[in-house]
Amino acid sequence: MLRLLPQGCTLIKTLYQGAEAIVDLCEWFGKEVVVKTRVAKSYRVRELDDLIRRSRTIREASLLSSAKKAGVNTPFVYHVNPVEGRIIMSYAGSQSLRNMQGSSMFASLISMLGDSVGRLHSVGIVHGDLTLSNVLVSEDRLTLIDFGLGEFSNEVEKKAEDVYTFFSNLTMLHDSETLMKLFLKGYRASAGESAARVEERLREIGSRGRYVEKELRRRG
Ligand SMILES: Nc1ncnc2c1ncn2[C@@H]1O[C@H](COP(=O)(O)OP(=O)(O)OP(=O)(O)O)[C@@H](O)[C@H]1O
Ligand SMILES: [Mg+2]
Repeated sequence: MLRLLPQGCTLIKTLYQGAEAIVDLCEWFGKEVVVKTRVAKSYRVRELDDLIRRSRTIREASLLSSAKKAGVNTPFVYHVNPVEGRIIMSYAGSQSLRNMQGSSMFASLISMLGDSVGRLHSVGIVHGDLTLSNVLVSEDRLTLIDFGLGEFSNEVEKKAEDVYTFFSNLTMLHDSETLMKLFLKGYRASAGESAARVEERLREIGSRGRYVEKELRRRG
């Protein structure tokens, strides 16, 4: 996939090449930075594709900055070019929560994440794609990335879906229930007054999910 690196930028290595974006580690004026470029999709109508890439780029950059202002650790945004679909930001290391499974620190990191997500929600930010890969870990510090599907919203439903998405990542792990409880403990501490309603909604979504699963199994 073709993308032009910004002026003054030397490629160190490509960190990730996905369907939507390429993420490069570069040197930029003596600094190690990450360049995330949303690439053009040939199957989409050109005008629509440009619009989607531009709006997701702007949205991601603005959410990254707002989250940081709210006290949640995210990469520093150094430069945004919506036309090129590109964000230049600080490098947050190579370790993700996904790689930390099995580590003795995993449980406490999950609880810290609950606190960060609660903080996000308390200021009306929904991440939109909370996965183990979208949380980077450096020493004992978490950095939340990948806000391209996020939004500014105070809707309980959206906040509950955010948490539910993350919980779906945990269901495969043997101690998933304990981890969910730890997450919620952190969440409650920072999410403010809507925490109880989000948890109630979460239980509803959970039981609906289990009901659908049961029905599907029953119908074979
Ligand atoms: N600031 C950063 N520091 C270190 N690594 C990063 C950083 N940003 C992205 N990465 C790496 O690149 C990978 C992909 O980035 P990201 O999750 O933002 O893109 P994506 O999943 O393709 O996003 P989208 O869903 O918006 O297309 C991450 O999982 C992570 O390994
Ligand atoms: Mg991602």
